[in-house]
Amino acid sequence: MHLKNEMFHEVPKTEEQKSHQKVTVVGIGAVGMAAAFSVLAQNVSSDIALVDVFENKLKGEMMDLQHGSRFLKNAKITADTDLSVSAGSRLIIVTAGARQKEGESRLDLVQRNVEIYKGLIPKLVEYSPETTLLIVSNPVDIMTYVAWKLSGLPKNRVIGSGTNLDSSRFSFLLAQRLNVAPTSMHGWIIGEHGDSSVPVWSGVNIAGIRLREINPHAGHEEKDAENWNDCHKEVVDAAYEIIKLKGYTSWAIGLSCADIASSIFENTNAVKAVSTFVQGIHGIDKEVFLSLPCVLNANGVVSVVKQKLSEDEMAKLHASAKLMDEVQKGLQF
Ligand code: NAI
Ligand code: 2OP
Repeated sequence: MHLKNEMFHEVPKTEEQKSHQKVTVVGIGAVGMAAAFSVLAQNVSSDIALVDVFENKLKGEMMDLQHGSRFLKNAKITADTDLSVSAGSRLIIVTAGARQKEGESRLDLVQRNVEIYKGLIPKLVEYSPETTLLIVSNPVDIMTYVAWKLSGLPKNRVIGSGTNLDSSRFSFLLAQRLNVAPTSMHGWIIGEHGDSSVPVWSGVNIAGIRLREINPHAGHEEKDAENWNDCHKEVVDAAYEIIKLKGYTSWAIGLSCADIASSIFENTNAVKAVSTFVQGIHGIDKEVFLSLPCVLNANGVVSVVKQKLSEDEMAKLHASAKLMDEVQKGLQF
């Protein structure tokens, strides 16, 4: 008689319980592991599969997370180089790919990461036809477009992490100047995650009081004596600065992934700036993905908030769309 049989009376099962909240993280580098850790630690999901091409690193990361199980909620952590480990995922967070070296821009990574996605995306969707994809690899807006094309999934279920991160950086920097919590500082960055991102100064507010009601030039590149636009410059420079200092960025994007995932799993209808298909919105005629404030729930992106943009913000958004379209035209996939 085994100890287990002596200790427990087994209740017969009617059917095997399936997890409805499985998350797969593809690419377990700095970003993938920060996302996996944030998802687990914030109880967004307790069923996580890790995928990478490095067998030893996978095993090491899996064991390290598993050993924290006592501090988690019945976590199931699996890992494999074989994509079948991802089967049945409700959400797949794709962080696989090259990252910027010092001095490189996000756009410099594009063809290298397209090659990786060609080998990954169709197979991932075969194993999880009901999944939503959360694309993180850079340049994220282009990679979201590539993932949409390669996956055959509907547009609402292919989401780029986009400017949820830039908006968090922006709110943090603005909030520091005004000594309020970043959650009470309503600042949105839309457009490209990266160099051509668009700060929506016309709407920045605390408790409904817009900065521009008090200082009509707040955020203006030349006319603003208070130089609020430095906050946006710092957002654009943030990744370059952090890469120079520590080699990569990880924690904030990991938390941003968990934040987006929680809206999907908890069906919250929360509004987040994520990269979505924008053709037909704000007069954009290009087939591109860019960040706009999106309503997110269990179905992914269910609607896009039509912000009242100033002429200048609209022009910048169109410039982002044009840039994405030009890069996409040069892609081979
Ligand atoms: P990393 O080099 O630490 O990790 C990348 C991982 O991808 C490696 O473990 C590598 O083995 C894996 N990988 C490569 N090809 C693969 C394949 N075919 N199948 C499975 N795994 C594969 O890089 P890091 O720092 O984690 O960055 C990952 C990506 O995320 C980069 O493209 C980076 O630019 C991007 N990123 C995006 C952010 C965003 O806001 N969207 C923020 C920070 C980084
Ligand atoms: C970031 O903004 C590098 O896209 C990455 O942290």
